[in-house]
Amino acid sequence: MPTQQHKQSARPTFFLSTPIYYVNARPHLGHTYTTVAADTLARWKRMRGFDVHFLTGTDEHGQKIERSAAKAGKTPQEFAAEVSGEFRSLWDRMGLTYDDYLRTTEDRHKKGVQFLFQELQRRGFIYKGTYSGQYCVSDELYVEGPPGTVCPDCGRVTETVSEENYFFKLSAFERKLLEYYEEHPDFIRPETRRNEVMAFVRGGLRDLSISRTSFNWGIPVPGDPKHVIYVWMDALANYITALGYGSDDPSLLEKFWPADVQLIGKEISRFHCVYWPAFLLAAGLPLPKQIVAHGWLLFEQSKMSKSRGNIVRAETVLDVLGTDALRYFLLREIVFGQDGSFSFDALVQRYNSDLANGYGNLVSRTLTMVAKYFDGWVPEPTVAPLVDLGTIGEIQGFYDALDFSRALERIWDMVAVVDGTITARTPWKLAAQDDKASRAALADVLYSAAEAVRIITALVYPVIPEAAAKVWKQLGLGDITQADLKNLRWGGLQAGTKLGELGPVFPRAEKDAIERMQEMEEKRQASMPANTHEEKQTTPQTAQPSPAIVETATPSKTTDPGSSAVSAAQATTPESQRGSESQPAAMASAPAPQSGKISIEDFAKVELRVAVVRVAERVPKSDRLLRLEVDLGYEQRQIVAGIAEAYAPESLIGRKVVIVANLAPRKLRGLESNGMIVAASVGEKGTPVLAGFLEDVEIGARLK
Ligand code: MSP
Repeated sequence: MPTQQHKQSARPTFFLSTPIYYVNARPHLGHTYTTVAADTLARWKRMRGFDVHFLTGTDEHGQKIERSAAKAGKTPQEFAAEVSGEFRSLWDRMGLTYDDYLRTTEDRHKKGVQFLFQELQRRGFIYKGTYSGQYCVSDELYVEGPPGTVCPDCGRVTETVSEENYFFKLSAFERKLLEYYEEHPDFIRPETRRNEVMAFVRGGLRDLSISRTSFNWGIPVPGDPKHVIYVWMDALANYITALGYGSDDPSLLEKFWPADVQLIGKEISRFHCVYWPAFLLAAGLPLPKQIVAHGWLLFEQSKMSKSRGNIVRAETVLDVLGTDALRYFLLREIVFGQDGSFSFDALVQRYNSDLANGYGNLVSRTLTMVAKYFDGWVPEPTVAPLVDLGTIGEIQGFYDALDFSRALERIWDMVAVVDGTITARTPWKLAAQDDKASRAALADVLYSAAEAVRIITALVYPVIPEAAAKVWKQLGLGDITQADLKNLRWGGLQAGTKLGELGPVFPRAEKDAIERMQEMEEKRQASMPANTHEEKQTTPQTAQPSPAIVETATPSKTTDPGSSAVSAAQATTPESQRGSESQPAAMASAPAPQSGKISIEDFAKVELRVAVVRVAERVPKSDRLLRLEVDLGYEQRQIVAGIAEAYAPESLIGRKVVIVANLAPRKLRGLESNGMIVAASVGEKGTPVLAGFLEDVEIGARLK
């Protein structure tokens, strides 16, 4: 007989992680989304018998955080501890089942990062060089151009830096990475992100600056402490330092590395799918089995983020509707991998229709009838199953593929079938008859309904664990976390089981739920101190599917915000931006009000005008760029636009377009670009579609 110990170690392992979150912003629903998805996957895998290790944590170093702390009048240590604590308490309040919470300021992590740095040095992948150029601190981004150049991401003026840096030989991994992507088609998911990453690497990799000397808040380079290690190298290493990389105890690393799934938001694909595997290859470590990039949670049409000021706190939803409602909404409403919108209306609507009237009502009507007609004892079954094994298998497949919305859709199809069956078989009428056949028919329908509720509850447990635990108890089955949910077969519910105490699972949302949540958020915004670390971005930014500006410098960034992190870097310097807020270049420059809306005065600063295209030609060696000469009536100017994949140059001659006329000039492929062309960004790929008019308009006319 194997001992318990042996049995445990024989279980297959599953290591999954979320990104570690920056501590310059308090947690909001965007962070909650990733962590909830990870928690659901962790629960699902545990339920399938895996020995799961679920890692999350906070990213606490870097210039941005040093400055945010100073603004808040705190030391970086105090500041980071405070915000990291907020993340952790939110996850705890939500009952998220992470196994490890790593803070990059912990000793175990610092040691591991220094070990990694030395290991890469020892293996000959690090050298010293000099970087001179422009830097945007807000985005931790090196920017090409002369002093005074504005950051393409946030529109702020960059700072000039000239620093001696350590460089990582990223260029040496170009071919190896491409081979790896080819040989492991599932390494990067979904396919769109894989394609972007591959295109980025095919475009050529430059060596990467991996140290900074102009500030201290970071992990010192071993033996050269005036340098701190580049914060992305520091952060990415968390996935192995948390397992004891560089420590005396390699047991967790041996057990859990390589990771099975690393969940990320799509904007940090480049860091996870290019830099991270290159570091690992250089260190001689295996690569994670899969990196899954999900889409963005949008709120009021743009990516929810603190810099855009359009955040919603998870706490607001938890206070009014509870954890399960939020989890269910996020995973049901948004197709995993794609962008999706959050709104209080949609949340309450889903809650009422799917949870209160759907699952909650099914549980309640079924169990109430068992209690009423059979004194709370599950009756003897005689009928054919209401739920077939095929459907169960299909749902399991969706969970395995992280296709949460489809899994839930199928489960709710089952809810509807069971509900319909109950209604059709009218158990209340059967109960009113006093003959044996009616009694047997009543037993059949109620056993079937109760057993279906059991199976549905087991399947939905990873998404709504609190409700599932309640229902499990009501079914008389005890603690769901101790149950074997792996082998779900029809008939598992024993006749003669005594139901537990019944009670509401998802009461209908109060009428004023939406207003209450909105008010809570408004109050929070109003009470935000002026010097809060939730600093606002100075420029409004759009996300799909709202109109995008076809950027002149880094086209793909604006045509598809989702691909920005990958393609934007192409044009940048050795070290690129830290990513998460790396959005399309924006237009105006006045501070956005806290609602994320801009004032009419702000909009008036953007000079949108009608122009006609006189000359259009491809930019040599670029698939995306066209050089246009446009006529505004009062002047002719050159614009370089990323629309070559959507428009043949000749089709544009004589066409009227809308341009942003007062944008600072920028250089692209050596060509000066004076303005941007306005286009909608359409579909997954963000294909640009030029804005135009149905009526004839005068060239030079201003849009207001
Ligand atoms: N610290 C880096 C990650 C380092 S990982 C080695 C970072 N942090 S972040 O605080 O900006 O968090 C980014 C992650 O939070 C995203 O990749 C995503 O997982 C999640 N999200 C934050 N806002 C989000 C949305 N609006 N929508 C979806 N996910 C979002 O980048």
